[in-house]
Amino acid sequence: MKQLIENLIKKSIETINPDNTVNVDNIRIDRTKDRAHGDFATNIAMLLAKPLKQAPRQIAQSIIDNLPKDEHISKVEIAGPGFINFFINKSSIADALEQMNSDPRLGIAKVAEPKTIVVDYSAPNVAKEMAVHHIRSTVIGDAVVRVLEFLGNKVIRANHIGDWGTQFGMLIAYLEKKENESGQGMDLSDFEAFYREAKECYDTDEEFAVKARHYVVLLQGGDEYCRSMWKKLVNMTMVQNQKLYDRLDVTLSDKDIMGESLYNDMLPVVVQDLIDKKIAVEDQGAIVVYLPQFKNKEGNPLGNIIRKKDGGYLYTTTDIACAKYRAEKLKADRILYFTDSRQSQHLETVWAICRKAGYVGENVSLEHCPFGMMLGKDGKPFKTRSGGTVKLRDVLDEAEARVTTLLEQRNSTLNDEDKQKVIHNIAIGAVKYADLSKNRTTDYIFDWDQMLSFEGNTAPYLQYAYSRIRAIFRKANNLSAGKIVITNEAEEDLANKLLAFSEAVNSVGAKTLPNLLCNYIFELSNIFMHFYEACPILKEGVEEDIAKSRLALCELTAKVLKQGLELLGINVMEQM
Ligand code: ARG
Repeated sequence: MKQLIENLIKKSIETINPDNTVNVDNIRIDRTKDRAHGDFATNIAMLLAKPLKQAPRQIAQSIIDNLPKDEHISKVEIAGPGFINFFINKSSIADALEQMNSDPRLGIAKVAEPKTIVVDYSAPNVAKEMAVHHIRSTVIGDAVVRVLEFLGNKVIRANHIGDWGTQFGMLIAYLEKKENESGQGMDLSDFEAFYREAKECYDTDEEFAVKARHYVVLLQGGDEYCRSMWKKLVNMTMVQNQKLYDRLDVTLSDKDIMGESLYNDMLPVVVQDLIDKKIAVEDQGAIVVYLPQFKNKEGNPLGNIIRKKDGGYLYTTTDIACAKYRAEKLKADRILYFTDSRQSQHLETVWAICRKAGYVGENVSLEHCPFGMMLGKDGKPFKTRSGGTVKLRDVLDEAEARVTTLLEQRNSTLNDEDKQKVIHNIAIGAVKYADLSKNRTTDYIFDWDQMLSFEGNTAPYLQYAYSRIRAIFRKANNLSAGKIVITNEAEEDLANKLLAFSEAVNSVGAKTLPNLLCNYIFELSNIFMHFYEACPILKEGVEEDIAKSRLALCELTAKVLKQGLELLGINVMEQM
């Protein structure tokens, strides 16, 4: 419909302005908030006031006078300082809904030109347990991945795990010690303890420390034994993390692991190339890049070390090689980084170097999709009672325990197997949705009562809205959905919201903000609840045609809720 209106306006402006002296490439058409203003509105007349040297209302009137007739538009009006409001025919709205209802993609077109999009997300560190804050990158990144893929793009999931660094000498030495003690391979279930004990050995046992430092050198030199021990650590970590991904219904798998170590071979080459290109210089034995756009406190260009005096490389060096790889080898059109907001300067630096060296062309879009911190209810960083990091696994366990208690209070009639599924879906959905539904750029407060509430903008509320609609169909017996007709305002409001689904999904792809889709689904549910109260279906006295049309609206709402939540990585249930 937006496209149609845009074309009509363009034609009209061509008539008014036959020499095409004004630019009409970007005509903005918005859905109106208030029914009195019609269905769509545009501010184009106001934008043309200056170039056409006329009053906006006068231009609006000429646009309306020259607008080609169209059967879908019932009325066009000027409003306020020069807005043009469009009213759509009820029958056209109904037709659009019919079309949407019979389309498996619910009216969401695939993009005309699919892009290759690398999405860097989750990225936990090896030999550490995933902490609760990893959920932000993991869950938000995964929702955006799902949306971009659904829109027809080629998405490459890049799990940039922290699998390299000097600490691996110590970890290998400690793994060896443990294996020798037990006489067999070990099952690493408590990484916290493993890391702590390894560090203790390193700090207190000189012989151990010497060996650890030796192992770093061997590992970096490609020594087979150290490589295999290192590989074991990576595998043990990722097997555990995969269990969490599966539990969270996150689409990451083994084949998406592209950790820091992947870029090792590129590092010396990149550093040499930056020296040759005179982008990097030697400074007191280290290799440094000075960028004029980043200044230190004294106002001098900030130095970024890319190779230390001892020959070691840094997080920055790896990320330069990594961005180069993504642009050149993976042929990315867009690269998205889901990391917390504190890494923004790091990324800016890396990208500036890559652009300057020509590793990533201007046609490739580099986007940091930052998020704020996770805070406890007291507004301080979310920590365990003893001040430690909260493990993601513990949070998921607690969520399921809390939902189990909730369901017991509700006297659910489900059998055990279904009950377990429901518990899983509500618990995981609640934790994920709490994160997804807020604008990711701000800090957010982790609050059990809020996220598990069946009221408000929460997953349980939305899942319940879905189940409730499904229940209508179980009660409807032999009455089924029929042709849609719009007979009152509650139906019209619901219809217009349903038709806006595609815009909501596209906005997530463009802005990498899943909360836009959350807001849409929440508003849709509220509008549906209002429709359901105002428009009886299975009551006596309701004409069959109308009841069938309303059932069709219910059906379409359920489909949109399900698809919308699925794009966010949240499951719905027929019954809960
Ligand atoms: N492993 C890092 C961390 O835990 C995040 C990596 C983000 N991605 C990147 N290309 N730097 O903070």
